[in-house]
Amino acid sequence: MPPHVAVVGSLNMDLVIRTPRFPSPGETIIGRDFHTIPGGKGANQAVAAARLGARVSMVGRVGDDGFGAQQLANLSGLGIDVSHIRRDPAAATGVALIAVDEGGQNSIILASGANMRLRPADVEAAEEAIASAAVLLLQLEVPLEAVERAVALARAHGVTVVLNPAPARELPPSLLRQVDFLIPNESETTLLTGVQVDDMEAARQAATRLRRAGVGTVILTLGERGALLVDRVQATHIPGFQVEVVDTTAAGDAFVGGFAVALAEKQSLMEAVRFANAAGALAVTRLGAQPSLPTRAEVEAFLSAVSSALKMSP
Ligand code: RIB
Repeated sequence: MPPHVAVVGSLNMDLVIRTPRFPSPGETIIGRDFHTIPGGKGANQAVAAARLGARVSMVGRVGDDGFGAQQLANLSGLGIDVSHIRRDPAAATGVALIAVDEGGQNSIILASGANMRLRPADVEAAEEAIASAAVLLLQLEVPLEAVERAVALARAHGVTVVLNPAPARELPPSLLRQVDFLIPNESETTLLTGVQVDDMEAARQAATRLRRAGVGTVILTLGERGALLVDRVQATHIPGFQVEVVDTTAAGDAFVGGFAVALAEKQSLMEAVRFANAAGALAVTRLGAQPSLPTRAEVEAFLSAVSSALKMSP
């Protein structure tokens, strides 16, 4: 039986332009190609988990419009349970304007639309889906009240809570205390702790501060340097993989989705982070959010190629 992962979060349509560089304020520049690509941190993590082998239920809101219909069709096509995604006639589906430069870095502006109308009552209506999951995945592109309700339900049913605090915002201590795994990147960690994460020692200090605030385990993602896992007993750096960067969009989502699947499969935490690092690395080699998310077979082939290369090196 595949493990069950529930996701409460956002669904956006990403309007992506590749550009030689980012414009300055007031400047118009000529970009390259344009793409309309399904995205949103919640939906991306749901797709990542489904491609990596989980049974996935998603809770969220889209508008009663073409982008919303496209998202629903796309997720159902991947076997994701969309019965808890409401079509909201009073708001548009979330849209993200994304510029991707030649180095693969991005800048994103979000119009949240229906995502910000997700209510605690929507989450309560999905209680059964949350209760039957091994892991609940959350991000911060939907209202905090909905996130808090989902966390409370998960805790009541003994479901493991994984929070990816993106985009960054301050979080109430009462929420942090209920999070089993917090997965921030460097800038999110800085916002949450006030510690500038510019080297491994600072990363360790910041993660320890989050642990002291009551988080169970902190997994601080460090881009191509991998991730720092800080739990009750130790801080362990799990190195990342060097790949050719095309677009970093959704690399974090691939990591989070991969980690959730491995965790739900009861892989060790070190193995789960390595698996997540591989999913994130593969995602940056392709353009866009959801189309860049790797399958289970791709991640396994990548990890076995890396192991073989290591064995062969002198
Ligand atoms: O994490 C990447 C995602 O952030 C994009 O797909 C975009 O929709 C924004 O939510």
